Amino acid sequence: MQVHVIRRENRALYAGLLDTYFRIRHQIYVVERGWKELERPDGREIDQFDTDDAVYLIGVDRDEIVAGMRMVPTTSPTLLSDVFPQLSIAGRVRRSDAYELSRIFVVPRKRGEHGGPRAEAVIQAAAMEYGLSIGLSAFTIVLETWWLPRLLDQGWKARPLGLAQDVNGFSTTAVMVDVDDDAWLGICDRRSVPGPTLQWQGLDAVRRQSLPEFQVVT
Ligand code: COA
Repeated sequence: MQVHVIRRENRALYAGLLDTYFRIRHQIYVVERGWKELERPDGREIDQFDTDDAVYLIGVDRDEIVAGMRMVPTTSPTLLSDVFPQLSIAGRVRRSDAYELSRIFVVPRKRGEHGGPRAEAVIQAAAMEYGLSIGLSAFTIVLETWWLPRLLDQGWKARPLGLAQDVNGFSTTAVMVDVDDDAWLGICDRRSVPGPTLQWQGLDAVRRQSLPEFQVVT
């Protein structure tokens, strides 16, 4: 699986892939998860945070989308700032070195174990790789609370920003996660992700920081 970085500078290259991606989001979030407030007549799940500031990481395997993730700078409106501000006791997180992660998914046929690294781990390792590459220090995530032990178990330092609250029947929490070398190396090691996966097509002009040396543990 390769993970493509799509942002405003190279969006035009990925117009077709992005359209399929928004249709898959509709299938997963509106149909499967039942988040009916996101329903749109055109069958795409696109919300107010899908702006030019959003960065998409899209996992592709044999020309098909298998996983995805959205990242939004916290200097722009985010889910936490505009929809769930009650989840952060200290108020809005607005930092140039912090992005919010959301819409993390794996298509149903690729969930669970498949004899290689889990697509879920690859897409999350890719987020950490992206954060390190552009010099971020933190991610914020609004997540259903069941996910928190999974983040900790993959070696991520996740700190709650407030108390969990009921959102549409689901216990929901906001966390801040450190973006650092250990978090990327840790998830790669614990989840058998074989190193960098990001594809930066059309983004040659983006200055990137070097990643920590990756060693396959045998
Ligand atoms: N509520 C509670 N637990 C859930 C869950 C949910 N909505 N979705 C997944 N889990 C649990 C599963 O029960 C499973 O637990 P187990 O390992 O003890 O059996 C574990 O998380 C792994 O989930 P699974 O779907 O088997 O595989 P995965 O790790 O490959 O993918 C997701 C996990 C969340 C990426 C995938 O389930 C998905 O894409 N879900 C739809 C999108 C979504 O809800 N994303 C989160 C909000 S943005």
